[in-house]
Amino acid sequence: MPTKLSVNINKIATLRNSRGGDNPDVIKAAIDCQQFGADGITVHPRPDERHIRYSDVREISKIITTEFNIEGNPTEDKFVDLVLEVKPAQVTLVPDSPGQLTSNHGWDTIKEKGYLQQIIGVFKNAGIRVSIFVDPIERIAAAAAATGADRVELYTEDYAKNYRKDKDAAIAAYVKAADIATKNGLGLNAGHDLDRENLRFFKQSIPNLLEVSIGHALIADALYYGLENVIQLYKRALIG
Ligand code: PXP
Repeated sequence: MPTKLSVNINKIATLRNSRGGDNPDVIKAAIDCQQFGADGITVHPRPDERHIRYSDVREISKIITTEFNIEGNPTEDKFVDLVLEVKPAQVTLVPDSPGQLTSNHGWDTIKEKGYLQQIIGVFKNAGIRVSIFVDPIERIAAAAAATGADRVELYTEDYAKNYRKDKDAAIAAYVKAADIATKNGLGLNAGHDLDRENLRFFKQSIPNLLEVSIGHALIADALYYGLENVIQLYKRALIG
């Protein structure tokens, strides 16, 4: 079963915001990612709008022909209102604090069960699939089912960090967490620091993986692989 690739385009917005203006064009990037074969687009709006803006999310929702996944922290009312307005195919709930550089931990599905049940109900009543970001810990993955979530997104930073050292050791906790989540009826997503090198082994080890969302490494690769062509385009403009 192929796993869906959802491209996180936050990094493109970060580049745009560094100069103001509209270059690169985030909406065009979303259209192009879909045209080039992405199975979905992921955005992660944060309250300070330092990369994807709330207005981008509204614009992108109009051009989505694949699967739209909006990630964020539902303790922000602004985020909940945006998701309910846009009604993406999936919302991924992430417990990140407002100024955090990037997501760095998953939900405690045991301690936060009551809160998660309530907020997940809000999204599910609106017909939105809900995935929750979790660390690869068996009891956390098992308890995720009681929150009402449809899926868990396994937080893969540790896997990615340890992959080169010992990939079998790096994947072990993920295989166990994935297994117990599946046995409890949850679908499996994954994300964070996945790249061309570590992705295949992750997929091979967790064959029922439904979706990965990848941003940083994929956009960096797009720069590397695109540079050769782009330098030629500029050189051509400089001939005589
Ligand atoms: N999943 C979540 C919850 C994230 O916060 C991020 C980063 O925004 C990703 C996946 C994608 O991570 P990366 O940019 O390292 O591919």
